[in-house]
Order: sequence, then C-alpha cells, then structure tokens
Amino acid sequence: MRLQKYMALCGVASRRKSEEIILEGRVKVNNKVVDVLGTLVDTKEDKVYVDDKRILLENRKIYIMLNKPVGYVSTLKDEKGRKIVTDLIEGVSERIYPVGRLDADTTGLLLLTNDGEMTNKLTHPSNKVEKKYIAIVEGVPNKVELEKIRNGIYIDGKKTAPAKVKIAKNYIDESILDIEIHEGRNRQVKKMCEAINHPVKKLKRVSIGQLQLGGLLTGNWRFLNEEETNYLKSL
Ligand code: URA
Repeated sequence: MRLQKYMALCGVASRRKSEEIILEGRVKVNNKVVDVLGTLVDTKEDKVYVDDKRILLENRKIYIMLNKPVGYVSTLKDEKGRKIVTDLIEGVSERIYPVGRLDADTTGLLLLTNDGEMTNKLTHPSNKVEKKYIAIVEGVPNKVELEKIRNGIYIDGKKTAPAKVKIAKNYIDESILDIEIHEGRNRQVKKMCEAINHPVKKLKRVSIGQLQLGGLLTGNWRFLNEEETNYLKSL
C-alpha cells in the first residue's frame, strides 16, 4: 500500500496532508527516514513511525453517519434501559461514540467516531458549525415570532445566538420550519420553538456543516467518504 494511504487509514491525516508530512522528513519506515512520495509499505511487516511514534491500523479513526430513528438515545448507556444508537452500528469493532446528542425522539444525522479531538472541535461553540433541522411545529409562526428566533431568544436565562429560520410549508394548524443553529444547547430547537409558542411535534437534523444526510434511510448508517472526512479535518 502507498505510504500516504496507509498513514491516512491510520488516522494520521488526509492523504494530501500525509504527503506533506512525508516530504517534511517526519516519517520513518523501519527506522529509515522516507521523504519521497510513492513508497510502498507492507502493512503487516513494515513498522511506520510519524515523528518517532509508531502508527498502527488499530488506531485508525473512523467517522460514521447515522440516520437516527426515534426511540434511540445518543449515549453509550441508558439507565432506563432504552435502546442506544450504537446498537444500530454492526460490524465495527472500534469503540465509537456519538458526537453530541440528538434527543430520543429526534431523528436524522448523527455522527459517530472514535476521534476525540474531532469531537471536541465539532461540539465546541467557538467553531460555529451550522446544524440544519427540519421541525414540524404546532400552528403557523408569524413574522414577529420568526424574527425572535432569528435575533436570539432567552432560554434558561441565556440568549441564543442568531439563528436562521424560514417556513418551508404551512398548513392550517401546523407548519414545517427549516431552522439553522450553530450552538448545541440541550433541547435547543424545541426550547426556541416553545418560546414562541409553537411547540415542536417532530424534529429531524438534516446536516452538520457540509455533511448532508441526503438519501440515507432511517436506521441506516455509512462511513463518511474521503471528501467528507477531509472536510471534518479542515475545520
Ligand atoms: N434541538 C432539540 O431540541 N433537540 C435535538 O435533538 C436537537 C436539537
């Protein structure tokens, strides 16, 4: 296997970045510095070091996108004995965990990974990664109410950051809202909608930054592709 591919699979960095690391002379194969591209490694026999630290496939970072169904909790254990999201991920031996949370009754895009650094980046408020939700709410919010959500609204004594919201469709007694927030406070979308007296009946997350749920069916999961993983690493 090409050295840079092996490095990417071990979770060192993207292939492109791994090439840079090689050219910087930071990589050794069996105690010999390799600073040219195109080197092949035997993934079973060769010992590869980056900055003198051995890299191993067992340490590979994995990134999974799940379309979470209703009824699953985004934790690794539930004291009430409810089903947990990792029950849905079969055939992955790494110890993965969800990045942030969706409520048990919320559906949609949930990331799971074993990459703690990435989790911190994605969940830290300073990073301002936009999360898009589709919410079915009671009634039809008027302009003033929508403006409140856009400008920020007090929940639990603290004002929310400005958000984007628009009515995608409205019926007589309910409407479908597209809502975009970049914070991740507990039950935030529900509390925002409650605060304008339009409680959420159903909630689904459809994207996190550039990652889109797309046509992934409820209850299904897939590994992120290289482009998506590189996007996460670029954050
Ligand atoms: N906001 C909520 O209210 N619930 C979620 O699960 C996610 C965002």
